Amino acid sequence: MRQKIVAGNWKMNMSSESSSAFINELKSSNWPQDVNCIIAPPIIYLMELQKVNGKQIDLCGQNCHSNDSGAFTGEIGAAMLNDIGAKYCLVGHSERRSYFNESNEFLKNKVDGLLKNSIIPIYCCGETRIERENGTYFDVVEQQLNEGLFHLDNLQFTKVIIAYEPVWAIGTGLTASAKEAQEMHAYIRKTIEKVYSLEMAESISILYGGSCNPNNAKELFACKDVDGGLIGGASLEPKKFLEIAQAF
Ligand code: PGA
Repeated sequence: MRQKIVAGNWKMNMSSESSSAFINELKSSNWPQDVNCIIAPPIIYLMELQKVNGKQIDLCGQNCHSNDSGAFTGEIGAAMLNDIGAKYCLVGHSERRSYFNESNEFLKNKVDGLLKNSIIPIYCCGETRIERENGTYFDVVEQQLNEGLFHLDNLQFTKVIIAYEPVWAIGTGLTASAKEAQEMHAYIRKTIEKVYSLEMAESISILYGGSCNPNNAKELFACKDVDGGLIGGASLEPKKFLEIAQAF
């Protein structure tokens, strides 16, 4: 049985006060016990949240540098994330890929840095609207996986989570239909089977991200190969975020 996961990506939002209030509200809510709750706050709030946080919520970095330390002004190393108690870190979110020119090759090093420091990478992949329209979307996603993730050996690969986030659906209100999401998730699983094994393909959690909200989560999560969601906008309100987790 794969783990059910609902992860919130706060991006560059929230404040010290609102983030603590969010966690406190979530802690006292009836969050379903069989759903893993992950929050990726801006890094400066992550440390603070560690103090208010109980066991119920796992904290996640939004980004990291592949080196543990060094002359990289403004960056945060995977070792530092581990030091402050983060359990997960997003890698290759489409906003990092497009605004900060992060290539698959560059992301591969981040994945390695995170695993070396016992942090679980949530590796994001997904095609742009043009790539969806010109029919290259399977190839694009496969290439992102090939170049950023498939260098891992079997043991390392079991530690990874994948998030399929079609770029055209992120923050746009346009969600992939359940059929489109399932089709890509199944494709990703098939690709993992080719490179690793059926057993591995069946054991990896694959999240859907892109305008997932309380209204569409049920249909998306009902898909055989969708194990949960990576939620942006709707993760900024505890009530909506909780409703998404209750949609399984
Ligand atoms: P969204 O963002 O839910 O606001 O579309 C998802 C994401 O960027 O991870």
